[in-house]
Amino acid sequence: MLNEFDLDKIDISVIPPETEPVRQYYFMAKCREWVRGFEDKNGRSPSCCVTTFGCQMNARDSEKLVGILRRVGYQVTESEDADFVIFNTCTVRDNANQRVYGRLGELKSRKKRNPHMKIALCGCMMQETTVIEKLRSSYRFVDLVFGTHNIFKFAELLYRCICENHNEQGMIVDIWEDTDKIVEDLPVERKYPFKSGINIMFGCNNFCSYCIVPYVRGRERSREPEEILREIRQLVAEGVVEVMLLGQNVNSYGKNLDTPMSFARLLQEVEQIEGLERIRFMTSHPKDLSDELIQVMKESKKICRHLHLPLQSGSTRILQLMNRRYTKEQYLALAEKIRREIPDIAITTDIIVGFPGETMEDVEETIDVIRRVKYDNAFTFIYSKRTGTPAAAMENQVSPDRVKEGFDRVLKVVQETAREQVSRYRGQQAQALVEEVNAQEEGLLTGRLSNNTLVHFPGDAELVGRIVTVSLDECLGFYYMGHMVSQ
Ligand code: 5AD
Ligand code: SF4
Repeated sequence: MLNEFDLDKIDISVIPPETEPVRQYYFMAKCREWVRGFEDKNGRSPSCCVTTFGCQMNARDSEKLVGILRRVGYQVTESEDADFVIFNTCTVRDNANQRVYGRLGELKSRKKRNPHMKIALCGCMMQETTVIEKLRSSYRFVDLVFGTHNIFKFAELLYRCICENHNEQGMIVDIWEDTDKIVEDLPVERKYPFKSGINIMFGCNNFCSYCIVPYVRGRERSREPEEILREIRQLVAEGVVEVMLLGQNVNSYGKNLDTPMSFARLLQEVEQIEGLERIRFMTSHPKDLSDELIQVMKESKKICRHLHLPLQSGSTRILQLMNRRYTKEQYLALAEKIRREIPDIAITTDIIVGFPGETMEDVEETIDVIRRVKYDNAFTFIYSKRTGTPAAAMENQVSPDRVKEGFDRVLKVVQETAREQVSRYRGQQAQALVEEVNAQEEGLLTGRLSNNTLVHFPGDAELVGRIVTVSLDECLGFYYMGHMVSQ
């Protein structure tokens, strides 16, 4: 690896972009030099703050940003008064965008107090042309903007932002339209020492008609299985016991590899890794969930008893308009098969209310599915019009009042069924991975069951990161209160 080279002797003009990640390590070394100069001048390290909006993919990307910032010598803080502040943005629904603009307004006044502060923006929202135009016209105090496809270049962009005097040029904007590049072996810093997300694929090819993800995350590309396994082995050696395999649609993993491989097969390989205790994954498109996967899950000792299976709508007519490529009946049959084969599984879902043309009858179809599948949890979203998606151009967008009525109906049923589902293990014992010390109540720990339900129980902070047996004494809505039976 490049760390072992004499970085000062490397001439960047002879390192072509194809030699990643070498090029990025060169820039990390350059940033490190700048940080040393900052430390000499100010008697302290520069500070940085990485704020994440959105999904698990973004959370994992943020760990990569933190990994690089830490490597070059930044002190990581939670305070947005830092010397370098970066927002990793989401654009899946418009309220995510509005939150970013709001928070940027706050940053502007902080920057007035500390003119040396650098502000950077990255992530899905930056892939939208209208956003970049708006930033250029109304948010000119932002120093650096990049997108989802070139996040691997962060060290290089950071160098341009902090080391080169770019103030005369104004905002640095580097957005790529798409990429087939996957750069391995960059630094990453995990939020939790004992569990980690792992990207197994990037992008999405499904083009659900309401969804902006394929436009901002690009076409589907899978990582090579050897790279994934190597990363997990390394994580396990560092103390990780649980991994979450991440992809927009993990069920189509491996289709485009030179040697194609199914997701189920990848899971079997991951299962072999000694020392790894738990495997999770997210997200599964119902149209691609195979019998092979159900069998592998059924036979596995490590794959957690949880499946996130986004429904979106229970109405076949709406599903068709959404371009989901399954019917209500096909979804119900799939859920029934999964429950039959793996009775102790928890099924969770995503639901959108207010898709163009949706009537109260369609909402009733969704409610019918919720009652029949009995979800352990369902994330219910109000449809958000995303410019550039086919649904944004559809007529008969639903009025806000009608959306609210449907949303409230769905939420009520989701809560009833989830309460009932979650409580079905009351009085039993189960294994929980202790994730943290409970922030609200002293002496309490929070653990996660294989089926993703949380349990709070008295215990010592030293148990964080360990898998213990707990008794699930009382169910309070969506979580348990319990006590530890054995360590
Ligand atoms: N409006 C509302 N919800 C959306 N989702 C994706 N796009 C939209 C949109 N335009 C939801 C889907 C998806 C989840 C991650 O976000 O339910 O599964
Ligand atoms: Fe969006 Fe559909 Fe792809 Fe999920 S599968 S990211 S909802 S287009």
